[in-house]
Amino acid sequence: METLETKEFNLASGDLNESFSELTAKEIHLWRVSLNPSQEVLLSCQNALSTAEKGRVEFFSFDQVKQNYLVSQGVLRVLLGKYLGINPQEVELGRHSKGKPFCKQDPNLYFNISNSGGKCVYAFSRKGEIGIDLEKIRPLSDLDEMIEKNFSAQEQSYIQKKSAEKLRRFFLFWTIKESYLKAIGEGMRIEPQNLEFTVQNQQIKLIGIKGYTDFEDWNFKEVPFDKTYIRTLTYLGDSVEFQDFEII
Ligand SMILES: CC(C)(COP(=O)(O)OP(=O)(O)OC[C@H]1O[C@@H](n2cnc3c(N)ncnc32)[C@H](O)[C@@H]1OP(=O)(O)O)[C@@H](O)C(=O)NCCC(=O)NCCS
Repeated sequence: METLETKEFNLASGDLNESFSELTAKEIHLWRVSLNPSQEVLLSCQNALSTAEKGRVEFFSFDQVKQNYLVSQGVLRVLLGKYLGINPQEVELGRHSKGKPFCKQDPNLYFNISNSGGKCVYAFSRKGEIGIDLEKIRPLSDLDEMIEKNFSAQEQSYIQKKSAEKLRRFFLFWTIKESYLKAIGEGMRIEPQNLEFTVQNQQIKLIGIKGYTDFEDWNFKEVPFDKTYIRTLTYLGDSVEFQDFEII
C-alpha cells in the first residue's frame, strides 16, 4: 500500500499563510495533527474557537478530553477558515440530522473528522460528501466477538484467514464501515453487519447493503501514514489526487 508524501505545516510559523493550497474538485486534502501538540499549536487552537466553544471547553472534567476537543475543533476552524478565506472564529458550523458537521457558509466544502490513539485526522473535498475513519491498531480482548458481531461470513473468513494479519484486517474492515457510515452521515442507523465489503487486489469494494438496492458510486481507500494506525476514506469522484498534510 503506497504511502503519500506528507507536507508539514508549522501552525506557529505562518506556514499556513504562505503556502496553503487551494482545494480543487479533483483533489482530496487530508490533514492530521497530534492531540498532544506544542504549546504554540494549543494557543492557535484556543484562539480559533468561537465564544460558545471556549465556554464548552471549561465543562470537560478530564484534561485530555478537554485538550482533544480544543485541538480537533481548533484545527478544524483554522483549516475551514483558510479554505474559505475568513477568520477561524467566523466559521459557522452546523450539524445534519444524524450529527454530521457541515460548514454553513459553504455546505459544498465537504469535510469529516476522526480521532484515535492521540491523533486527529481530517478529510476535505469539493466533489461530494466524504467520510474518514482512524483507528490505532491495538489488541482487543473481545476481538473474536467483535468480528462475529459486525462482519458477514465472507468478511469474517477474509479477516481470519491469516492470523498475523487478523488484527490489521479487523481494523481495516471496521474503518471502512465507519468511514462509509460517516460519508453518508448515517452514524448508527445502518447496522455494520448489514454492510458487506470485500478486498480484491488491494481494492476495497462495497458488495451490498441489506435493505438498500440503490446506492451512490462511492470509492473506498486506505491511506496509510504510520504502520500502527489505519486511516480509511469513503469518497466520491474518479481520478482523485490526494494531498497529505500534517500540522506540527
Ligand atoms: C459518529 C460516528 C459515526 C463515528 O464516531 P467514532 O468512530 O466514535 O468517532 P470518530 O472520531 O471517528 O468521529 C467523530 C466525529 O465524526 C463526526 N460525526 C458525528 N456524527 C456524524 C455522522 N452522523 N456522520 C458523519 N460524521 C459524524 C463529528 O465530527 C465527530 O467529531 P465530534 O464528536 O468532535 O463532533 C459514530 O457515532 C457511529 O455512529 N458509528 C457507527 C457505529 C458502528 O457500529 N460502527 C461499527 C463499524 S464495523
